[in-house]
Amino acid sequence: MLQPHEEGMSEHTSHGAWTIPLVAGGHAKPLVFTEGVALGQHVMAREIDATTETGAHEILSDIMAAHEAGDIHTIARYKCKNPLRWLSMIYPPACTPKFIGLFFPGGTLLGWLSFTTSPSMPGKAIVGAIIRAPYRNAGLGTAAVLHARKYLHDIMHDSAISGIFFDTQVRNTRVIAIARRIKAVEAGRRVDQLRGGETMVSFTSEVAIET
Ligand SMILES: CC(C)(COP(=O)(O)OP(=O)(O)OC[C@H]1O[C@@H](n2cnc3c(N)ncnc32)[C@H](O)[C@@H]1OP(=O)(O)O)[C@@H](O)C(=O)NCCC(=O)NCCS
Repeated sequence: MLQPHEEGMSEHTSHGAWTIPLVAGGHAKPLVFTEGVALGQHVMAREIDATTETGAHEILSDIMAAHEAGDIHTIARYKCKNPLRWLSMIYPPACTPKFIGLFFPGGTLLGWLSFTTSPSMPGKAIVGAIIRAPYRNAGLGTAAVLHARKYLHDIMHDSAISGIFFDTQVRNTRVIAIARRIKAVEAGRRVDQLRGGETMVSFTSEVAIET
């Protein structure tokens, strides 16, 4: 079992018995578009330091739970051992992964967004999202994606990235609803033979230009 521990330059925020390590100087802003979020508390978006075992463990635990629920597919079989090795299998360092956590002011982690890049997707941040089960269906996923789009340059530190890309199973009605709500553009459909013939749909959305 992992234990919380100090890591390098990370900051820490409390989460029950856990502390979630944060990237010092990483993205840290109040969640925008919170008017549609029905959780009764403010939400902060802060970059999780997933180069720490504790940060990697939190992310992997959510991925495995979503996989077991059939919401996402992963080949990882993480069982609380070697979190950094498992995380780098899912998010290789070459795809420059970043994780933005959504926190209550007291430090409870509600969910997170992942951001990666790929040479096959120039100019795009590939975004993944998991909101922890007790905090779903309250508008947080939608607000988080809008937040990501608004602060994409602050999160990615790369002005060449001008939009987000995400894909999901066609039957993932929550993600499809978010795509519709943020007016994302459908970018294609494919049958994924590696995932039992699951039909995947992908979307893109450009960074909102501030006036
Ligand atoms: C997908 C996910 C990130 C969405 O986060 P969320 O906080 O639940 O999203 P929201 O509350 O903003 O709801 C999104 C939409 O789903 C709708 N919705 C909520 N519950 C639903 C349900 N049971 N069935 C269908 N749609 C539902 C909401 O009404 C909303 O649509 P609207 O904006 O048209 O009203 C979250 O549910 C999750 O982590 N799921 C498991 C992992 C996953 O699927 N990740 C995405 C992989 S691509």
